[in-house]
Amino acid sequence: MEETIPPKQAGNLQDYEAALKEFTWSSVDKEFDWSKGGAYNVAREAIDRHAQNWRKNKIALYSITATNEVRKYTFGELSELTGRFASGLEKLGAVKGDRIFVFLDRTSELYIAMIGITKMGGISGPLFSALGPEAVKDRALDSSARFFITSPYLYKRLEPVLDDLVDVEKFIIVGDNEGLGEKTVKFEEVIGSGDPNYQAVNMAPTDPYIIHYTSGSTGKPKGVLLGHKSMIQQWYTSRYVLDLREEDTYWCTADPGWVTGTSYGIFGPWFLGTTLISYEGRFDARTWYSIIQNYGVTVWYTAPTALRMLMRAGDDLVREFNFSKLRHVCSVGEPLNAEVVRWGMRVLDRRIHDTWWQTETGAQLICNYPCMAIKPGSMGRPIPGVIAAVVDENGVEVPPKKEGFLALRPGWPSMMLGIWRNTSRFKEYFRVPGWYIAGDQAYKDEDGYFWFLGRADDVIKTSGERLGPFEVESALIEHPAVAEAGVIGKPDELRGEIVKAFITLRPEHKPSEQLKEDISKFVKTRLAYYAYPREIEFVDSLPKTRSGKIMRRVLKAKELGQPLGDLSTLED
Ligand code: WTA
Repeated sequence: MEETIPPKQAGNLQDYEAALKEFTWSSVDKEFDWSKGGAYNVAREAIDRHAQNWRKNKIALYSITATNEVRKYTFGELSELTGRFASGLEKLGAVKGDRIFVFLDRTSELYIAMIGITKMGGISGPLFSALGPEAVKDRALDSSARFFITSPYLYKRLEPVLDDLVDVEKFIIVGDNEGLGEKTVKFEEVIGSGDPNYQAVNMAPTDPYIIHYTSGSTGKPKGVLLGHKSMIQQWYTSRYVLDLREEDTYWCTADPGWVTGTSYGIFGPWFLGTTLISYEGRFDARTWYSIIQNYGVTVWYTAPTALRMLMRAGDDLVREFNFSKLRHVCSVGEPLNAEVVRWGMRVLDRRIHDTWWQTETGAQLICNYPCMAIKPGSMGRPIPGVIAAVVDENGVEVPPKKEGFLALRPGWPSMMLGIWRNTSRFKEYFRVPGWYIAGDQAYKDEDGYFWFLGRADDVIKTSGERLGPFEVESALIEHPAVAEAGVIGKPDELRGEIVKAFITLRPEHKPSEQLKEDISKFVKTRLAYYAYPREIEFVDSLPKTRSGKIMRRVLKAKELGQPLGDLSTLED
């Protein structure tokens, strides 16, 4: 018998099969103010309309600092603060459509800035605060960002590239900007100069509200644009996948530098008027459990690597806490091993609901629902309103249990609008007629459940963070000792994958442990703290095609002791 975990009780979604047949996207429209004549804008739907009803004094955000202090904000307060920020931005010269980057730790100003930007029609560009100067520069130049919201220490991190950020007119500094130069202005001043009653700008459904930089196999990260109409699907999934209800306290552990941290760490839950928890600090098992207990978290959205780290912290630690309020647990970002789901049942006595989606999809697509049996290891079934399939390279569906490309019928509401200044890359997703090709390999079983098998490309997922080998290789070859570099994701029990680099050295350099450390640090401080190779292997040469491209596929097969496959294009 196949292992399944039956539903405990149905949630907001009572009957999945019925919803598959009956649901239409247009039925969601009535949930929004714009359907009653209000402005079309994600910021208005997330904050302002709640400030105009009984939720005005409801807590919208508990922002827990790294030192465990808490700052509380009601919807009413956030409406005023984000209005002030939006209007302050306009006074600085910002206009609709500007790319405005938010490079901050998870503090309340991050949330205020993100909503404020979208309120005045700007395109917010959240940047994970672990990014190094080179990564920030690539993104700022690609998108011609005009404004940055950042903090003094992160601004200082950008010093090596500041002269290159030619399009940036102002850096808005959260904290003291003394000595930081004339291009800076204090966040406080921008807020102070703004109008608390500022009204959100009316946008078109296909106007972008956010740009998320995300990695692929080739080239530097690309800017994925999501539109204001994403709210339709983010509302729907927040209600029926995250199962959010009025009285919930919800914690999404993802950073808003990534899509989970915005679609479900800010917008989706706020469309429903949910109270959010945000925690600035780093992962620590005891702190995490304390947050769930002490804030009475009812719905928790997290990631497999975090769950595996909690598993490692031991079952005894869990028993020190009371999770009686916790009703619903979801996971995203990388494969959720069956073993983790079993641990959830055994130790937390909770089902962990896997969800599959991507930056480009803007919202969840293949999920597990409270009303549906879970098959541990499976990603679940498509949300109502979406058609998913496993297809071959011609777009023909393959039979059950056969491996193929995970594909979706284009047109779901939160599908990306495009890739910033890169139409050809955008078109590649639709190269198979009639389908959006996700880049993952999967199979579907006889019951319609989808199972993840791996990436169809070289994209690396390390601790849930998406990384392209090219960006790491580019950073590596900037190091004076490195001649050439090939980078792969190496399977890792805890992190899903780790970055492994194969490196050839310049003639005057010799392999050593010291050099490995030096190279790792170089990548960490220039590119990103999470992007450095945890393993480095010095080699005499790298496998290359006749045209000189490094064959990562061969490196990976060798590393895993697998057959090397077709080597006909190998140089020698
Ligand atoms: C992977 C994160 C297995 C997958 C929201 C996808 C998953 C990529 C799952 C997108 C899952 C995401 N099971 N793999 N439940 N969820 N992935 O853009 O390879 O950071 O294509 O979006 O993560 O990563 P991204």
